[in-house]
Amino acid sequence: MRLKDKVAIVTGGSSGIGRAIALGYMKEGANVVIAALREDNCEEVVVEIKKMGGNAIYVITDVSNLDDHNRLLSKSLEKFGKLDILVNDAAYSAREEIFETTPESWDKHIDIGLKGLFFLSQSFAKQLIKQGAGGRIINIGSVAGVMDFHPVSIAYHVAKAGVIHLTRVMGVDLAKYKITVNCIGPGSTVTPMSSSKDPHYREYMTKGIPEGRMANPEEMVPPAVMFASDEAEYITGQTLFVEGGALAVYLGRVS
Ligand SMILES: NC(=O)c1ccc[n+]([C@@H]2O[C@H](COP(=O)([O-])OP(=O)(O)OC[C@H]3O[C@@H](n4cnc5c(N)ncnc54)[C@H](O)[C@@H]3O)[C@@H](O)[C@H]2O)c1
Repeated sequence: MRLKDKVAIVTGGSSGIGRAIALGYMKEGANVVIAALREDNCEEVVVEIKKMGGNAIYVITDVSNLDDHNRLLSKSLEKFGKLDILVNDAAYSAREEIFETTPESWDKHIDIGLKGLFFLSQSFAKQLIKQGAGGRIINIGSVAGVMDFHPVSIAYHVAKAGVIHLTRVMGVDLAKYKITVNCIGPGSTVTPMSSSKDPHYREYMTKGIPEGRMANPEEMVPPAVMFASDEAEYITGQTLFVEGGALAVYLGRVS
């Protein structure tokens, strides 16, 4: 077990990629805190983890509400006594064209996907330093941070580009505390966020992926475990894209 007795907080951990990572961490021996916006699915994930012999709780958290961060950290500490790993998975994504983007939509994307992510990471890192330092922050970015992911909002693209660069800068700033900061950049993945009954949308999302299919959330688990593990101590500031080769095709086309 590569994460035995580690304590991991996973935001957005009740569905999609976050849920897969929460379960994957439990299988590697971690105690898991699911930080979710709403109750839906939380209990089900916690029960699933407990049935498999793991230990988990959930804490209702709006990552864009900075007041919720301290409550999340204190509830996690109350239950497990320490913190080791933070996975910043929660994000918001609207499908909107450039001229449909409003200031409200812009703020929502940034507040959840970038500002909330940063300030939760900041509070988490302070706690790790209080514990004597050492730990892992893993951000969920997106190929949208480096390529066009039409018809997803331009504000989502900007938030994800910010996550990728924030990962580098935080990686540098926190290296002296032995806290690594890395990012996973999924390509099109079958989750509630990407679901659509529109066959053209699905076809569009699959086009340009050499693997010829969208990813499954479980395919984000191996890099999430790797970044969280003790073996990854010397890896920081990195973004690993998990996109079936889509970026190579895209970059080949635009260069
Ligand atoms: N599905 C894809 O194709 C895809 C591609 C690239 C990146 N991603 C990224 O993967 C991550 C997970 O997305 P997913 O595809 O699993 O979709 P998802 O909808 O299952 O997960 C997003 C989660 O974020 C939570 N969330 C939203 N606002 C929140 C808030 N204010 N506070 C707390 N939680 C909040 C949602 O409740 C949900 O559980 C996101 O960061 C997303 O941008 C997804």
